[in-house]
Amino acid sequence: MSEKLSVNKCLFPVAGYGTRFLPATKSMPKEMLPVVNKPLIQYAVEEAMEAGVSKMGFITGRGKRAIADYFDNNYELETEIAGSSKFDKLADINHVMNNGQFIFMRQRAMLGLGHAILTGEAIIGREPFAVILADDLCVAPLEQDPSAPTPRAMAQLVELYNKFHCCIVAIEEVPKEETGSYGIISGVEIEPGIYDVSDMVEKPKPEDAPTNMAIIGRYVLTPEIFDYLKETKPGTNGEIQITDALKQVAKEQRVIAVKFEGQRFDCGSIPGFVEATNYFYEHEFKG
Ligand code: UTP
Repeated sequence: MSEKLSVNKCLFPVAGYGTRFLPATKSMPKEMLPVVNKPLIQYAVEEAMEAGVSKMGFITGRGKRAIADYFDNNYELETEIAGSSKFDKLADINHVMNNGQFIFMRQRAMLGLGHAILTGEAIIGREPFAVILADDLCVAPLEQDPSAPTPRAMAQLVELYNKFHCCIVAIEEVPKEETGSYGIISGVEIEPGIYDVSDMVEKPKPEDAPTNMAIIGRYVLTPEIFDYLKETKPGTNGEIQITDALKQVAKEQRVIAVKFEGQRFDCGSIPGFVEATNYFYEHEFKG
């Protein structure tokens, strides 16, 4: 039954410690780091909205209150700058706030991405849902056909969900020596760039990786994933891994992987963050 529902909710697991960005993340969430003048989490919410999602569920942890404050009014500031051109700088975030609903839940122990998603069951219920990891920042292809522009990754995943009605993951080919940083899939290509997943492995050493096709932080999941996650034992790094649960789904049901169009920046790493900053300064901010 649930497969026929559309994707109206998105989970943003934002409870991680962001240790690669210490000391900046000692007292501020990684997702609030700005790429030029906009925090990572706003790019992520805007991408979800572009995909037709309006209910945003954040899986937060201690020290993450700045995210909830960001999606709320700041009356003192707004009163101070009302009537000046500075107020226009709030236009995009106000648009997001006026068109979405924002729900916050705490993951009390950092037991892994799979556990963070399972924590979101109370927000999602029994419907399909999107998951965005805000530190993977996705942009649409630069070269666009103006009559039919390609959207960012999540809208592409939702379109595929509407066709296949199963779990969908976004993938990207990575250098073989980097497979140890990702969940890696193998599968059969059923359409150009679209794979029926047969197996998945979390963070394999390059010599053990079946392919170089890496899962990036965009998923559309069916609610059955919660049942699988409840059965999933801690895996790599002692964490409950979404990859392990999806591997079971691929065996017993179906998982589709798609090489999405566009570009991804790994803003959880310093080189990726700098690359994204240069990209946005060049293509969005200056222009
Ligand atoms: P990462 O592996 O990138 O970890 O988590 P991290 O803590 O964010 O960053 P580093 O590696 O220490 O620098 C992937 C995603 O899963 C979320 C994180 O917030 C991030 O979006 N996550 C991870 C949780 O929400 N809860 C967890 O228990 C683990």
